[in-house]
Amino acid sequence: MLAGRHVLIIIGGGIAAYKVLDLIRRLRERGVRVTPVLTRAGARFVTPLSVSALCGVAVQEDLFDLTAEAEMGHIELSRAADLVVVAPATADLMGRMAAGLADDLASTLLLATDKRVLVAPAMNVRMWTHAATRRNVAQLAADGILFAGPDEGAMACGEFGPGRMAEPMAILAAIERALGAGPLAGRHVVVTSGPTHEPIDPVRYIANRSSGAQGTAIAAALRDLGARVSVVTGPAAVAPPAGVDVIRVETAREMLDAVVAALPADAAVMAAAVADWRVANAAGEKMKKSAGRLPALDLTENPDILATVARPGAGRPALVVGFAAETSDVLTHARAKLARKGCDWIVANDVSPATGIMGGAENAVTILTASGEEAWPRLPKDEVARRLALRIAAALERKSDRKPDQEAE
Ligand code: C5P
Repeated sequence: MLAGRHVLIIIGGGIAAYKVLDLIRRLRERGVRVTPVLTRAGARFVTPLSVSALCGVAVQEDLFDLTAEAEMGHIELSRAADLVVVAPATADLMGRMAAGLADDLASTLLLATDKRVLVAPAMNVRMWTHAATRRNVAQLAADGILFAGPDEGAMACGEFGPGRMAEPMAILAAIERALGAGPLAGRHVVVTSGPTHEPIDPVRYIANRSSGAQGTAIAAALRDLGARVSVVTGPAAVAPPAGVDVIRVETAREMLDAVVAALPADAAVMAAAVADWRVANAAGEKMKKSAGRLPALDLTENPDILATVARPGAGRPALVVGFAAETSDVLTHARAKLARKGCDWIVANDVSPATGIMGGAENAVTILTASGEEAWPRLPKDEVARRLALRIAAALERKSDRKPDQEAE
């Protein structure tokens, strides 16, 4: 889907510059035309020769290169591409972008371009968290600059934390997204995430241990494949990702209303841990404690959002995915749920406390569909999300291709 697109890559001066060679290779494999620009500092980390050889065109380095100016002026260079990518985006380069400086070819191109700009920051953790960088990042985001990363992890300088440049594949996904070229481009997916809070009175509520981590990761993974994502989230511990529409709710009934309002969608992924019951006799005022008298809470059933969305009829998303979080007989319950809820897939997981899955960073899921069951190994929730998003993209693709008389998955 990227074939024929044109990306201008500005390579800044950071140790992560070597990873940009891999990014260029992957872009070229996908038929992307890449015009490279090396900053003076960037040329200390990767050579003009390697960059030019990978791109198949001469690298641009100097604002006042008369030959290049005669062939293509810097203004034209900044506008000929479909997207401008800055990787690695150093603290210095981002600072100059935020201030609107134009004192070398890279910053001049960035000021002169009328195309979207995607930056992949890379710097030491203290530089990334410094107040000046925070200000510059906020300014660039407000200016509409797109970000890929940074990641958190071990750094070349020996420290650990946020500031590592995103991996080439993640930058590639961000490029696809920016160019509207991912496999889910043009698709809309509704995701529910987090717990719900069901009031007992104005200050007390019934909740559950869901952190919203898996739903949030799924929303981000779908976004990375180019989908427009609406996340309807209960009060979760994890913040929803950037670049998605966020609708915040508290109760199951609010979640149902928000999901219905967010439709139509091509797919719905119901990852929220919705409270099955709410208090029917919730008090309008704070309930008072009185010695020896215990309040009786009448519970009533909440609407089933998944079953409502999965109901056959016009406007049903082509693919409806539910979750089954269980603490015993996981697959038996999940199979029953697949049949009962009318959804296309169930993602089953064991949330017994010993697994550490609820609120944890990893998940071990089994995907149940009409055509079989597939157990995935224990993986980081991000990776579960990435695989699930790819599976959703493939299923929607198949459904679009399918003739009406072909069997549904
Ligand atoms: O019935 P149970 O809660 O185990 O089903 C889990 C699946 O159903 C999850 O996908 C959850 O998001 C969804 N669900 C829902 N509305 C409810 C209860 C569960 O959407 N009221």
